[in-house]
Amino acid sequence: MKEAREKIESVKSTEELNEIRVEFLGKKGRVSLLMKKIKEISPEERKEYGKSVNKLKRTIEDLISKKAEELKILEKKKMFERMWVDVTIPGARRKTGHEHPVMRIWREMEDIFVSMGYEVVEGPEIEDTWHNFDALNTPEWHPARDEHDSFYFSDELLLRTHTSPVQIRTMLSRKPPIAIVSPGKVYRRDYDATHLPVFHQLEGLYVDRKVNVGHLKFTLSEFARKMFGEGTEIRLRPSFFPFTEPSFEVDVYLEGYGWLEILGAGMVDPEVFKNVGYDPEEWSGFAFGMGIDRIAMLKYRITDIRELVKNDARFLSSY
Ligand code: PHE
Repeated sequence: MKEAREKIESVKSTEELNEIRVEFLGKKGRVSLLMKKIKEISPEERKEYGKSVNKLKRTIEDLISKKAEELKILEKKKMFERMWVDVTIPGARRKTGHEHPVMRIWREMEDIFVSMGYEVVEGPEIEDTWHNFDALNTPEWHPARDEHDSFYFSDELLLRTHTSPVQIRTMLSRKPPIAIVSPGKVYRRDYDATHLPVFHQLEGLYVDRKVNVGHLKFTLSEFARKMFGEGTEIRLRPSFFPFTEPSFEVDVYLEGYGWLEILGAGMVDPEVFKNVGYDPEEWSGFAFGMGIDRIAMLKYRITDIRELVKNDARFLSSY
């Protein structure tokens, strides 16, 4: 009895307890053996003997079933401990990206011009030489048509070198007044710290009656103030583009940089109007074009344009 009690008390698992149950209470268990021994007991003592063996059996049964209860609770507790999850531990965070600095400036530029009544128009990146050059009054001999500056597919097809052809396409398909900006990818054979072979431009075109340089300057200084902050000054310097006359380079004054050229602009050349069937006596307009990447570099003070295309997440996430 003492042995049984000790064994039952020291048991650590339900399986062990089952072994002990078999050892004592099984068909060939130790209690059964005691029962069988009853034949060897003298008839007078048999009754007492039987009673005590039965009592022993019940006691062991009780001990075992009590232990079984305890073990059940204990094992459940252990299982819960194993399964416990700390729901307050921060999860494995999935990295999310964000808008590329160039795309952000692209969108900001669109917003600024849309707020001034311009419509955003896009066009094909593969252009023919007529839309990309001829219609824009850019004759064969112009350096922009040089093989070295452009990516040609054939004599007549190339990757557009600016988004000005979108202005031609728009003028051909509509009647004035027109106020559009055309953002998009453009391609030139250039590659260094300030030039990429693929970059982004936003060009604008306004055509109406009696448009003058004052309208152009007002529009661009509005743009500069909205992009670089109130009080930002611009200046126009005379320049040359085949498709505008007069033409200007436009500088913006930026703290820490001084005067910086940010765009080209001018009054639409009468030859361009003739090419799209507009009467230059009736219609006048201005056009301008600038690099979105360049504006992004100035705004975010990025010195090497190649950073914009490396896609180094550490660089990009700082904008
Ligand atoms: N198309 C010119 C360029 O890509 C920019 C420009 C547009 C200049 C409109 C004047 C007027 O360099």
